[in-house]
Amino acid sequence: SNNKINVAIDGPAGAGKSTVARLVAKALSYVYVDTGAMYRAATWYMMCRGIPAEDTEKVLQHVPELMIELVPDPTGQKVYCNGEDVTTVIRSMEVTSKVSQYSSIAGLRTRLTENQREMAARKGVVMDGRDIGTTVLPDAEVKVFMTASVQERAARRFKELNGAADITLEQLERDIAARDKFDEEREVSPLRCSEDAIVLDTTHMDIQGVVDTIVSYCLAEKDGENSQ
Ligand code: CDP
Ligand code: CDP
Repeated sequence: SNNKINVAIDGPAGAGKSTVARLVAKALSYVYVDTGAMYRAATWYMMCRGIPAEDTEKVLQHVPELMIELVPDPTGQKVYCNGEDVTTVIRSMEVTSKVSQYSSIAGLRTRLTENQREMAARKGVVMDGRDIGTTVLPDAEVKVFMTASVQERAARRFKELNGAADITLEQLERDIAARDKFDEEREVSPLRCSEDAIVLDTTHMDIQGVVDTIVSYCLAEKDGENSQ
């Protein structure tokens, strides 16, 4: 049918959100929106200008000029910040270690939340992040809260690095746990499971299993709407 819905996928780092969200979007011919990439791009932008997260006032002065674009690409998705391709640099350890601090600034969240709502206004969007089901798209027809044990999540990230970064599995586990804690404890739209979300513990699930589960929820939801 042409009845498009919105799908919100939230959860902690390394749960499999972006991998799964991209595949769910592909299966439904929907648009994938990676909100983490937007927070990472904003972080990169401020860091390049030497503006520390602690200087909230200065960060807020620069928020209005932020222009973040997510552009679909055969290789996945390209991220542009004020015209510059930041796809790779936003995944650096420097950005990763600071992103949660910038993400706790209310005025920055307000701005990015507005942008995200605009992207989802015509429906047919699969959006992943931390506050999509609770704050950005509280009316999303399907909400998923994806989790996995911190050991499993760190192991997944470690495997991804493939020896490229100088970090141990134990350090990665500590970094991930610290970022989750910061995201869960911030004042503004913290990482939290929406009451109406489907909780998926993917610790022992493979990617295809998770994708199939979510796609079936989406199809059931679309069918339900058609019969009303
Ligand atoms: O992929 P990974 O789990 O490492 O993180 P991400 O999804 O790229 O998000 C990076 C950081 O951005 C998170 O740790 C949060 O601090 C922040 N974020 C957020 O606050 N709200 C969102 N909707 C998405 C990300
Ligand atoms: O976006 P998020 O931080 O939640 O996680 P991700 O970047 O999509 O996934 C982290 C890694 O775990 C990727 O290398 C995925 O291929 C892998 N993964 C997995 O092994 N099993 C799953 N059920 C989901 C993801």
